[in-house]
Amino acid sequence: MHLVQNWAVAAAVAAWLQTGAAAPSINEARAGPASCSTSSKDTYDYIVVGSGPGALPVADRLSEAGHSVLLLEKGPASSGRWGGTMKPSWLSGTNLTRFDVPGLCNQIWADRNGIACTDYDQLAGCILGGGAAINSGLYWKPHPEDWNMSFPAGWKNPDMQESVSKVFSRLPGTMYPSMDGKLYLPQGYNTISAGLTQGGWTSIVANDQNDQRNKTFSHTTYYFSGGERGGPMATYLLTASQRKNFAFWTGAAVKRVVRTGGHVTGVEVECSGGTTTINVTPNTGRVVISAGTFGSAKILWRSGIGPKDQLNVVKQSGDGATMVSSDQWIDLPVGYNLYDHVGTDLEIAHPNIVNYDFYAAYNRPASGDSQSYLNGRTGILTQAAPNFGPMFWDIITPSDGINRHLHWQARVEGSRSTSMTLTQYLGTGSVSRGRLTINSQLKTIVSTSPYLNNAGDVAAVVQGVQNLRDGLAKVSGLTWIRPSSSQSSAAFVNSIAANPGSRNSNHWIGTNKMGTDDGRSGGTAVVDTDTKVYGTDNLFVVDASIFPGHVTSNPTAAILIVSEHAVSKILALPFPAAAA
Ligand SMILES: Cc1cc2nc3c(=O)[nH]c(=O)nc-3n(C[C@H](O)[C@H](O)[C@H](O)COP(=O)(O)OP(=O)(O)OC[C@H]3O[C@@H](n4cnc5c(N)ncnc54)[C@H](O)[C@@H]3O)c2cc1C
Ligand SMILES: *[C@@H]1O[C@H](CO)[C@@H](O)[C@H](O)[C@H]1NC(C)=O
Ligand SMILES: *[C@@H]1O[C@H](CO)[C@@H](O)[C@H](O)[C@H]1NC(C)=O
Ligand SMILES: *[C@@H]1O[C@H](CO)[C@@H](O)[C@H](O)[C@H]1NC(C)=O
Repeated sequence: MHLVQNWAVAAAVAAWLQTGAAAPSINEARAGPASCSTSSKDTYDYIVVGSGPGALPVADRLSEAGHSVLLLEKGPASSGRWGGTMKPSWLSGTNLTRFDVPGLCNQIWADRNGIACTDYDQLAGCILGGGAAINSGLYWKPHPEDWNMSFPAGWKNPDMQESVSKVFSRLPGTMYPSMDGKLYLPQGYNTISAGLTQGGWTSIVANDQNDQRNKTFSHTTYYFSGGERGGPMATYLLTASQRKNFAFWTGAAVKRVVRTGGHVTGVEVECSGGTTTINVTPNTGRVVISAGTFGSAKILWRSGIGPKDQLNVVKQSGDGATMVSSDQWIDLPVGYNLYDHVGTDLEIAHPNIVNYDFYAAYNRPASGDSQSYLNGRTGILTQAAPNFGPMFWDIITPSDGINRHLHWQARVEGSRSTSMTLTQYLGTGSVSRGRLTINSQLKTIVSTSPYLNNAGDVAAVVQGVQNLRDGLAKVSGLTWIRPSSSQSSAAFVNSIAANPGSRNSNHWIGTNKMGTDDGRSGGTAVVDTDTKVYGTDNLFVVDASIFPGHVTSNPTAAILIVSEHAVSKILALPFPAAAA
């Protein structure tokens, strides 16, 4: 067990002295992360791998239940709360980093060195907090069909309500991130929402009316709090860190689980100083992998769990000599069922729209903006770049009879200073899937693109574009840039390549699908409905990778809910669990 450190409180006090911010409260006392250690001989009831939205509720609830928990994160600290240091100079002397200030989130597109994972062919955050350290914080309650259309028994909408309540009581989210309750530069929101109203769409409050996602719109909701990013790192991780039976390490990359047949005894970890094995408590210890859609699949493959073709690639790689022998391999469809929201960008311009240069503000915000942010957490920098709003929804039922849920985000950016980009995301109900594989350098590759491989999916995307064009048809002064007014919606949709370069939304799911059809005997599932990997006693996966299908919400809320629900199942599972 590591020592409780008080540096974080000291840092908060220093920041308070310098900025006149509210005095840090006593319940911020907590233990910060320790560095990866090759000399530790401690064992833990649970090892949780990763620190994204999949990992943190699990780690918090397991430690709350009295189990000893070690959380292992491959990347460095992000938020100032946890000792992060990456920041522009106007934040020096404060407890804030670039990850804490919502208006700086776009910086990930300008500079992601030391933040983004380097062993995937897609973007993901390899840093404390995972994607929830770098994303835009968009956050809203899933629709009932999100659970009912693709999740298995025990994970249907009524089953999920208790976990939904738990998540939204800890992280209620907000439509008004500025501490003065005002929206800054709301012209984009005002223009689009007025247009949609004219077109017959209805205004809702996203998190109160989550069952109304058909031709509705809302202010964009975020998980932000106190004018800062907040989120799972400021809630679940904070309470976990206040317990003596919880420890977490940064710079700790898990290479593989160590197992004998289906029984996992620990994990092999790569620290900067070398490799070590951390064991779980004999007989009753468990490992929960929450390394994300790419990272969790990769750890399973390196542990000899997956389809033979991918395990053979690992066998030929630098891992080969120490890989678990092939008579111990567990043949599961890890990497199939890959999905991501299909993104389709439309662009309009309107003379009312006012653009804010968030990239310029990273190093040199207008002094009024930095002062209002630092002094009272108010102003444009409390809003996620590039100034979102509204969000809107549509449900389309193509001739195959399957409902397709579309959600849209509107953001103030584009080719002109009066542009907005309206992005359509196809989620719930979509049938298309792709495949993730690994290469001999142990890099994960989206080898089959998951976008628009199904006629009904294409029809829904085209109809959704048309519905929006019809909806906004009466807005005076609005110019369509993409598609141009002469292009048909079908021609426009077909003109955009259906590959990650043109369509990706960074909302990847599905590589370790949860289900009742055991993948070892021809089924499609990698984990069972307790989130336990088929063929193992004590290995679990809890993150976006277990989603059978997508949701119509951005993923963070749904992943937190899945994590709360999963940990209730794990805690209820008797020790030692019998092999499935
Ligand atoms: C730029 C961007 C913008 C986004 N915008 C939004 C948004 O506004 N709203 C929203 O809801 N979603 C958004 N998303 C998606 C959302 O952030 C992800 O869906 C979510 O973070 C996935 O959660 P996860 O727990 O499954 O995995 P992740 O968040 O990816 O977490 C996995 C963690 O595991 C760690 N890890 C990986 N491998 C290992 C290993 N071998 N050993 C130890 N640790 C390891 C990683 O470093 C990481 O911290 C965005 C994503 C990106 C990249
Ligand atoms: C910074 O300090 C303020 C004042 O104590 C606190 O409210 C806030 O949560 C802290 N933020 C971080 C990221 O530590
Ligand atoms: C979802 O499925 C469950 C179980 O099959 C059912 O009880 C429920 O009525 C369905 N719909 C909603 C909106 O929850
Ligand atoms: C969605 O709304 C349209 C009307 O715009 C309606 O025709 C359709 O049946 C609705 N779909 C669902 C699933 O409620």
